[in-house]
Amino acid sequence: MTSAAGWSAGYVTDTTYLRGYYAEQSPVQLALAALLMGVQTDLPGPRDEVSFLELGCGQGFGALVLAAANPGWRITAVDFNPAHIAGARRTAAELGLDNVRFLEADLATLPEDPLVAEIPAADVASLHGVWSWVSPEVRAGIVRLLHARVRPGGLVHISYNALPGWQSALLLQRLVHEAGRRLAHGSIEQARAGFDLVRELMAAEAQGLTKSARAMEIVERLEKATPDYMAHEYMNECWSPCWHADVATDLASAKLDYVGSARLLANFNELKLSEAQRAIVNRFADPLMRELVVDACNQPTLRHDIYVRGTRRLSTGARDAALESVTLVLPIPPEEMVYAVTVPAGRASLNEGYYRPIVERLAEGPCSVGELLALPALEGHARNPAEVVGMLVGSGQALVLARPGAPMNNVSRHLNAMTGRRYLNVETLSGPSAMACPALAGGLPTALGHLYIAERFAAAGGIDATGIDTEAWARQFAPPDTPPGEIEALAKQMAEELRRRGKLWRWLGIV
Ligand SMILES: C[S@@+](CC[C@H](N)C(=O)[O-])C[C@H]1O[C@@H](n2cnc3c(N)ncnc32)[C@H](O)[C@@H]1O
Repeated sequence: MTSAAGWSAGYVTDTTYLRGYYAEQSPVQLALAALLMGVQTDLPGPRDEVSFLELGCGQGFGALVLAAANPGWRITAVDFNPAHIAGARRTAAELGLDNVRFLEADLATLPEDPLVAEIPAADVASLHGVWSWVSPEVRAGIVRLLHARVRPGGLVHISYNALPGWQSALLLQRLVHEAGRRLAHGSIEQARAGFDLVRELMAAEAQGLTKSARAMEIVERLEKATPDYMAHEYMNECWSPCWHADVATDLASAKLDYVGSARLLANFNELKLSEAQRAIVNRFADPLMRELVVDACNQPTLRHDIYVRGTRRLSTGARDAALESVTLVLPIPPEEMVYAVTVPAGRASLNEGYYRPIVERLAEGPCSVGELLALPALEGHARNPAEVVGMLVGSGQALVLARPGAPMNNVSRHLNAMTGRRYLNVETLSGPSAMACPALAGGLPTALGHLYIAERFAAAGGIDATGIDTEAWARQFAPPDTPPGEIEALAKQMAEELRRRGKLWRWLGIV
């Protein structure tokens, strides 16, 4: 449901959007992806003052995490929903954060508003979950804003629902939207009513739905989707999935060139395409045509594109030297390392003989890519930092340590504790969240329950995990009438997480 006052231009405003942290928006991740693609960009250094602009920031959680983890950065986050901005400003004030500014503004008109002059020129701008959900007027405003506020050499991240990935589920989306509007009041109820009808139609074997694998998959996964997500995903009037070439053409008028994907593995055609598919892609030099063929083969439903204002190409040597200076940290115990990762073309295996010594070294502590490649066990192997960084970071089995050795700061601690206190209960234990972390120059994607465990661990002085009584923690955490068996299970779960995460948290300075 849209605003009665008519300021929403068809966008859902009767319910706030979920609070999420998305690693694809992190300047470190974006710069790393650009570097992998051979585009000159500066990975934010420990003392760099990055200016980050987020458009359509929702409740502002990502902006708050970046601001807390990077006191030297300037963060500007824009949204037109006053409920989002009021909540985000309140949290920033409670934390005493003075490097983040939340602006209540409509992206359709902000470029012509005097307020625009107060937005610092952005090194990195990001819009996640906005572009394909808003009207053509708002998209045009976004392009003018990026043109006005992204500095030469700056990066832009934009995610959007993509074609042809959504093609076979267009009917499902339309049915949910149209039926919802007629059957219920309020966008959450409308999305629910729309999906009830879709299920009924599926049971009645409506072929437009049952013959679409994508539609069937959406309905199968419905239970995992939150009501606010469903409302914002299906009840906006202007939702319209996009072709990559159209987005790239629109952004070209802001002098932005396509670089690649913020999802690192998506940048390796060898992992995305079969040999026959690659042969077809390679017949074309035009990047738009190449992406069209790739999308025809992979059909992503959400793209995470990166653009740069002015492409400067790096030689392979210069790119590799920059990648060798990157420090990696292992987020999982070495025995959990997966050497066969799922990629769009199927399964890709990490050569165990090559990667095992790397993982064993990382299990001892953070290490630069250059040092990893110099391990005696790798002697005789080709030195390929792009593959090591792409595979390990892209599969989520290594993180980039932007500030090796940087301690936690109070504001990050405070934000993490506040997030745990506000949103954690027995039901949300495994719900997604993130911890602000200066060593990562961003957030550590984390289950909400881990925030509690990390806080307890830190409060216990970060002592060795064996000396910790997780049963006492479980008793403190669980409601008073929780049966002893459930307390015991919770305590075991906490002890297990501590075993898995304790080392990482120490390396990151979290405990
Ligand atoms: C799907 S939400 C994504 C929020 C956030 N980026 C995230 O991923 O959590 C889209 C956001 O865009 C905002 N939005 C929609 N139209 C807008 C407009 N014309 N001007 C500013 N913000 C707008 C909405 O209020 C909403 O917070």
